[in-house]
Amino acid sequence: MNLLVPAAAAAAPRRAGAPWPRSARVVAGDVRVAGVALAEVAARFGTPVHVLDEEEVRTRARTYRDLFGADGVFYAAKVFSCRALAGWLAEEGVGMDVCSAGELRTALDAGLPARRVLLHGLAKSAPDLQAAITAGVARIVLDSPDDADLVAGALPAGSRQPVLLRLVPGISAGAHPKVRTATLDQQFGTPVDRVDEFVERVLAHRSLELVGVHCHLGSQITDVEPYLDAVQVMAGVLAHVRNRYGLVLGELDLGGGHGIAHRPREPELDVADLAHRTRRELRDGCDAAGPPLPRPGVEPGRALVGPAGVVVRRIAALKRAAHRTFVVVDGGMSGSPRPALHGAGYAPASSAARPPSSSRP
Ligand SMILES: Cc1ncc(COP(=O)(O)O)c(C=O)c1O
Repeated sequence: MNLLVPAAAAAAPRRAGAPWPRSARVVAGDVRVAGVALAEVAARFGTPVHVLDEEEVRTRARTYRDLFGADGVFYAAKVFSCRALAGWLAEEGVGMDVCSAGELRTALDAGLPARRVLLHGLAKSAPDLQAAITAGVARIVLDSPDDADLVAGALPAGSRQPVLLRLVPGISAGAHPKVRTATLDQQFGTPVDRVDEFVERVLAHRSLELVGVHCHLGSQITDVEPYLDAVQVMAGVLAHVRNRYGLVLGELDLGGGHGIAHRPREPELDVADLAHRTRRELRDGCDAAGPPLPRPGVEPGRALVGPAGVVVRRIAALKRAAHRTFVVVDGGMSGSPRPALHGAGYAPASSAARPPSSSRP
């Protein structure tokens, strides 16, 4: 017997979502995704196994590309990375945000050009940096002033690397405190009130070309408002940098965090609404603050692949406890850490059961 767990679903303000892929159907008691019987997948590849509907991933990638432009979308590879997926993204003209030489290799091997890749990381290792510099990635996101020194030290003499500053706008957004990464007391990025120190450290290195700013608010954000707050703060930073240093920065990367439904009727972020209202806020903020309009960018992770996939697991045992029955499956916490880390849930179903009635037709 198999246990099917939707890997998740995307995107009006707090629109209710459905966690199963659009193509999920029940045929003769078995769930099919994109016409493929999951029991067959389990029999052929073993379990646990992740199954992605290529067409849905491609459709989601195209939607992002149409909303934010080919140069404005970087899929966050940390969510899920394999060559097939990177190849689909390359063909759909979407870039990738990578954090390691391994993720970069996967992207390049799949034909995704380095000019569409952005390197992140608050602890960039020497081999990771070397691989990114050798490949010629489009952007390196600097996490702190010290990171500026580190990256500059790794660049060959005479070269120039476009970089973004990862800033912390001091906004609390995200489904759980453990996934809120724009509050002031957490480890990622540099608080906006230290932007002068950050800019000056970058300007001290001729090899670093400062082209923009970045922030990532957190994960599972289902309202557009926190992004609009972030745009206001970041537009203020851009105006400040222009006034104080005479530098006009052309890029504002707003990170990822686009919330999806992991269970029926859970809210999800409306990505089209995000794109339109972000641009409007940027126009208003920048008109008021002075600098020309920067290009907005995004780094969607789970919203690009989660709703398009399922995880298939085998039920190993059923155990009755005092008040509950536990379904023991062939996958551990490492493959599904969210429930234990922050009380998140999924919408499991056995292969003989229909996907929940709220799932898409
Ligand atoms: C810098 C950065 N960008 C994008 C993402 C993707 O987040 P999500 O999958 O919530 O869209 C993450 C996730 O941790 C991240 O750290």
